Amino acid sequence: MTSKPSGTLLASLQSVDTERIREISRKHLWQPLLQHSLLETQKPLVITEGKGCYLIDSEGHEYLDAFSGLWAVNIGYGRQEVADAVYRQMNQLNYYPLSQLNVPAALLAEKLASILPGDLERIFFVNSGSEAVETALKIARQYGRQKYPGENRYKIISRYRSYHGFTMGALSATGQKMRKRKFEPLVPGFLHAHPPYCYRCPLNLKYPACNIQCAEEIGNIIQHEGKESVAAVIAEPIIGGGGVIVPPPEYFPKLRKICDDHGVLLIADEVITGFGRTGTLFASEAFNIRPDMITLAKGISSAYLPLAACATTPEVFDVFLGSPGAELEFGQVSTFGGHPVACAAGLANLDILLRERLWENSAEVGSYLLKGLEQLKEFPIVGDVRGKGLLAGIEIVKDENKTPADDKIIGTILKEAREEGVIVGRMAMAVTDYNNVVALSPPLSLKKEEADRIVNALQKSIGKVARSL
Ligand SMILES: Cc1ncc(COP(=O)(O)O)c(C=O)c1O
Repeated sequence: MTSKPSGTLLASLQSVDTERIREISRKHLWQPLLQHSLLETQKPLVITEGKGCYLIDSEGHEYLDAFSGLWAVNIGYGRQEVADAVYRQMNQLNYYPLSQLNVPAALLAEKLASILPGDLERIFFVNSGSEAVETALKIARQYGRQKYPGENRYKIISRYRSYHGFTMGALSATGQKMRKRKFEPLVPGFLHAHPPYCYRCPLNLKYPACNIQCAEEIGNIIQHEGKESVAAVIAEPIIGGGGVIVPPPEYFPKLRKICDDHGVLLIADEVITGFGRTGTLFASEAFNIRPDMITLAKGISSAYLPLAACATTPEVFDVFLGSPGAELEFGQVSTFGGHPVACAAGLANLDILLRERLWENSAEVGSYLLKGLEQLKEFPIVGDVRGKGLLAGIEIVKDENKTPADDKIIGTILKEAREEGVIVGRMAMAVTDYNNVVALSPPLSLKKEEADRIVNALQKSIGKVARSL
């Protein structure tokens, strides 16, 4: 069973009527990705408190959150500094749009420009990862038309299995049939290539003899489509929701060269991998990506408030400069984009992340965690263990032929881990028949003892499931 919370976390427990919250939610809330008929028998947790890596539910159980909510709470829960910054800003100026300036948005843009890789120094603020991607796609299309006026560069290339968001443009870039098929037809002009997924190479090749054909494939697509029609390639450095797929080191330098050869922009979607998640401040550094644009969300505020951004280089931004009336400016506005309170939260979050050098802890404790997870291969149902920093995936299979484990098996592993007091994530409703990866993305302040606790919980839960098959 899960453990009881300690001292300070107990404060508000008494006041929550769990059954009432479940009942009114069952009547009025629409939860994401959930078949609501299951709520006749299943009881979702009512999460009431968070501190560090831990959550407390309304019945007093404590959980180590090894998924940071949704890959998001990089600095951990309950940091007073962020709450204070938000409170101060809310009292001073609760809102004004970026048609004029506000102090937190300006300071946060400056801060981001100083830590982002390469010369990504121009920041457009929005409110979610999907909007950040949407923004990057639109910048790419407008850039293409203004930079190459005789051409019509509008096509976007992404990879199967990748996830880029729920809005129609970002969803069109997404390479997951299950997330898309009920909403089709989507936006025209989106093409997909195979992912760098060595465990199940979609091209049936073996690394390194493959010579990274999956990157070459993107070059082939550009050639066949005609480079004059292609605006950008968008890629997560590590595919997250599509199964924590880590590319070989040669992949991104090769992809960069292909993009350069064809005048195509490269967008790194670092919504999950940014802000220390993979052991460097941005995964673009570790994978040698040198993006023209980067999309940021989640760790930008550690989800204390909704905040996201798209950052570009001067080379991209300059194409939007010109005389007034020439209509070269970027044609997009978001009411909440650059919200001063969200930006104040982002600044306080980055202060903590940078002061505590949490990416270094992510690298150190991440490789310790990964070593621990490797031990899970003692169970034949653990087909692959992969990751970088504090981002990891465990691919669960049924047999030596790598037949993917079904939904029920993955669901039971998660349930059993939760019984052990550890919340882990999973691929959900992504790739038909292949939603078989358990995902880990704990807060970056994770200690080695806590990594041990995650491994122990998975040893028990996976072990129990393996023995029952
Ligand atoms: C790589 C990536 N891009 C974009 C998004 C969309 O972010 P949001 O859910 O904040 O709209 C996600 C969400 O998980 C993501 O993982």
